[in-house]
Amino acid sequence: MSRAATMTMALFFQLITSLLLITTTASSPPLGGVTFDVIHRRSNSSSSRHFNTNELDGGSPYANTVFATSEYLMKLQIGTPPVEIEALIDTGSDLVWTQCLPCVHCFDQLGPIFDPSKSSTYKEKRCREQPCPYAIHYVDRSYSEGTYATETVTLLSTSGQPFVMNETTIGCAHNSSDVTTPSASGIVGLDWGSSSLISQMGENFLGLFSYCFSGEGTSKINFGGNAIVAGDGTVATNMFRKTDKPEFYYLNLDAISVGENRVETLGTSFHSLEGNIVIDSGTTYTYLPDTYCNLVKDAVDNAVVNVERAPFSGERLCYKTDNIEVFPVMTMHFSGGADLKMATYNMFVNNGGEYCLAIICNDPTQQAIFGNRAQNNWLVGYDTSSQLVSFKSTNCSSLWS
Ligand SMILES: *[C@@H]1O[C@H](CO)[C@@H](O)[C@H](O)[C@H]1NC(C)=O
Ligand SMILES: *[C@@H]1O[C@H](CO)[C@@H](O)[C@H](O)[C@H]1NC(C)=O
Ligand SMILES: *[C@@H]1O[C@H](CO)[C@@H](O)[C@H](O)[C@H]1NC(C)=O
Ligand SMILES: *[C@@H]1O[C@H](CO)[C@@H](O)[C@H](O)[C@H]1NC(C)=O
Repeated sequence: MSRAATMTMALFFQLITSLLLITTTASSPPLGGVTFDVIHRRSNSSSSRHFNTNELDGGSPYANTVFATSEYLMKLQIGTPPVEIEALIDTGSDLVWTQCLPCVHCFDQLGPIFDPSKSSTYKEKRCREQPCPYAIHYVDRSYSEGTYATETVTLLSTSGQPFVMNETTIGCAHNSSDVTTPSASGIVGLDWGSSSLISQMGENFLGLFSYCFSGEGTSKINFGGNAIVAGDGTVATNMFRKTDKPEFYYLNLDAISVGENRVETLGTSFHSLEGNIVIDSGTTYTYLPDTYCNLVKDAVDNAVVNVERAPFSGERLCYKTDNIEVFPVMTMHFSGGADLKMATYNMFVNNGGEYCLAIICNDPTQQAIFGNRAQNNWLVGYDTSSQLVSFKSTNCSSLWS
């Protein structure tokens, strides 16, 4: 496992300290316009949503994305005049933050660190006549601390005019640990929370966004009308919102097939009808509770013949081979008939002379995560108002070049 992957394996889960939760609430942005229709459409097809892009003022916003070792970054501009930053795309958290001067403790990033004093639209939020602090601690132990501010955020748009979001709530980070790669300046949170980028876009965008990740080249993340995933081969599954973790996008995983061998969650404690796994763009591998995960590992091991297991792979399932062809085809079955037939690249990672299963078995008390490696070469569309996630098998690197 690469260092980067180890470090970023659990960015999905943010813990805000209780004190700061109060300041978060006190400084919540005025987002009254965001509504979520609770339409539980039990459907595996998202084509029922028809959306007229022309209804949107200014077209559909989008951003270019960059692959960085095991994570995906998006380019956006902040401030006036606008400064370009690259920040990690994270559907598992809400805050949009970037490193800011002055640094108490900053990590190296590729571009210059944002200097609020040079932006005419930067406005620090005040709580009881003090700057409003925030602190986010991610499960992988990385963290970001700083102050809340409002600032202009600018994206590209299909209209050709920049898409300008005035007075967007951001975190201006003065003390952060390294997010992933030297190039990311921060994180763009995209979860269901009120301060995420998608929530702050407002109701015109209906909580729609889509991305297509590929381990090579650049790609795009789309918002609004242009983010609809439809057409031949599109499958969709319901997303679920849990009262105890209402910001996460839960999906329901029914089974994983290893070749012809379908390993059901039914009969294990992982089985659910209302969401058992969080889809997360900010986590590299897929994490499953070992109660179920071990059944999948056994099925893989049974299907891999005449290949030696790698010693010292610990909890990981690794083989001494440099030939990815020896591995079985795996299919992830999400509820409602969304069967994702995975490429071997999605499920196995080269680890220097070995190949390892890109699924990691977790303690059952920990969150199950559907990570970004498994989402490679799927066009993934989130529709938070209809509560559907759609998938379309796509060669993502050819899509945007
Ligand atoms: C955003 O701010 C700019 C500059 O103050 C202003 O011209 C523009 O109308 C604002 N846009 C919106 C949507 O409020
Ligand atoms: C930065 O934040 C970390 C994590 O909360 C904390 O341990 C450290 O003391 C802070 N550093 C400074 C210089 O404030
Ligand atoms: C939806 O699911 C049903 C039953 O699982 C299946 O027969 C149908 O082909 C699926 N439709 C699409 C568009 O995938
Ligand atoms: C995907 O598209 C790229 C660029 O067009 C091409 O080089 C590559 O061979 C394609 N991959 C597959 C699996 O078709």
